[in-house]
Amino acid sequence: MNAGILGVGKYVPERVLTNADLEKMMDTSDEWIRTRTGIQERRIAREDEYVHDMAYEAAKAAIENAGLTPEDIDLFIVATVTQESNFPSVGNIIQDRLGAKNAAAMDLGAACAGFTYGTVTAAQFIQTGAYKNIVVIGADKLSKITDWEDRSTAVLFGDGAGAIVMGPVSDGRGLLAFDLGSDGSGGKHLNLNEKRKLYMNGREVFRFAVRQMGDASLRVLEKSGIAKDDLDLLIPHQANIRIMEASRERLELPEEKLMKTVHKYGNTSASSIVLALVDAVEEGRINDDDNLLLVGFGAGLTWGALVIKWGK
Ligand code: ACO
Repeated sequence: MNAGILGVGKYVPERVLTNADLEKMMDTSDEWIRTRTGIQERRIAREDEYVHDMAYEAAKAAIENAGLTPEDIDLFIVATVTQESNFPSVGNIIQDRLGAKNAAAMDLGAACAGFTYGTVTAAQFIQTGAYKNIVVIGADKLSKITDWEDRSTAVLFGDGAGAIVMGPVSDGRGLLAFDLGSDGSGGKHLNLNEKRKLYMNGREVFRFAVRQMGDASLRVLEKSGIAKDDLDLLIPHQANIRIMEASRERLELPEEKLMKTVHKYGNTSASSIVLALVDAVEEGRINDDDNLLLVGFGAGLTWGALVIKWGK
């Protein structure tokens, strides 16, 4: 029994922070941000708007989109690194708020690769028949840990949440293959510093990302038995357009097969890939039996790549 995607949902905060706004806050320019990263604007959560608020909205929308009710859900897996507290988990909070009284809940920390880890975890429960309907959420509020004094990172990030409902699917659809990995030796390049703010060595992370996104994409394709030419859409972690383009080139895909949301959301950590997936669905860019490649990397350092054949 394959595990596939039954419904999708998202939430992004109302407030838009543009490159022009950042020009007023620090020594930077729209031109620098655009050409180095592809980002034009990002969403920033209100001070009193938390990861669990965004995760709740995204999960609610995904459950509705799947044609289910909260009581149908067996498990919530929330990929995040910016929850308000370690316990209760974001999963616990939204399980209660949704009235999903039959569900278990947990959070999972794999930074920007978190959504790929969550999806693979959910698939194991479904493939064994242990659970039927699982909500996987990617939700982060990186603005909370952004060092607004550091222009080399402050311009990169945004807030948001995306969710999918996973369940059993037929006709060879669903998750076909995955490739997850960790290189903890690179942890020093991206972490929380003593001020509890995000520190990043951009160049090192860039190098890691270009190499690992390409390598993991090729490995997962081989495991799935899908040829490069048969891929319909590449949905990479939306950190930097140059890293995304490098992945597209490694896979020899035409421009139109690369899903991009980095210009409007920036890097939203665990929500990045799932927000891009939801937007692709909303824009009508995904049809039944399309082959999708989702690939991410992040702090840890971690990476994850999935091949999914779309449809219930
Ligand atoms: N505005 C203007 N100038 C800037 C800014 C800014 N916001 N930030 C840095 N600069 C300057 C630097 O000071 C440097 O100036 P110098 O040459 O006088 O010293 C110059 O721009 C070039 O800096 P680099 O760091 O070499 O720029 P680079 O082309 O490497 O781009 C970037 C930096 C965008 C951060 C890139 O390295 C990158 O994208 N790295 C990967 C980041 C990433 O993907 N992180 C996600 C990790 S997962 C997670 O989300 C937690």
